[in-house]
Amino acid sequence: MKILMVCLGNICRSPLAEGILKHKLEQLSLPAHVDSAGTGNYHQGEKPDHRSVATALQYGIDISKQKARQIKPIDFQYFDRIYVMDESNRKNVLSVCPEDQQHKIKLILSVLPDFSPQEVPDPYWDSLTGFEKVYQMLDKACDQIIATDFQ
Ligand code: 4NP
Repeated sequence: MKILMVCLGNICRSPLAEGILKHKLEQLSLPAHVDSAGTGNYHQGEKPDHRSVATALQYGIDISKQKARQIKPIDFQYFDRIYVMDESNRKNVLSVCPEDQQHKIKLILSVLPDFSPQEVPDPYWDSLTGFEKVYQMLDKACDQIIATDFQ
């Protein structure tokens, strides 16, 4: 199973989603390829935001070695699932995704039974509390991804 997590900058939300899912899969010894990317290229090559790094570290997850990159055409063929954080990401990804691969793109919170809220909010202009909220949302979603995508 190959999973790509996508947000706008690939420095706040999708690095957390990548780190959380990888950590859970390692603990369960489930083989997979998990990566993340941004729809924008503003932060190409940068480490995740220090607040995402600190939040993950509180749960024993080291995401400090990740490097931001922009989504690229080969990703649509390579990955089985492409999870986006919000509607804006979804629109942006759909606009560059070939039609026959568009079924792979899903809002990450749509895996949850109540699907409410529907979007993982951008915490970039928020406080550390915003990052913690994002972490909790992604943690729940990743548990569900393991339950549904890894059967
Ligand atoms: P992300 O958050 O999409 O979760 O990585 C953002 C990071 C940077 C910017 C916007 C969102 N920015 O405008 O630079």
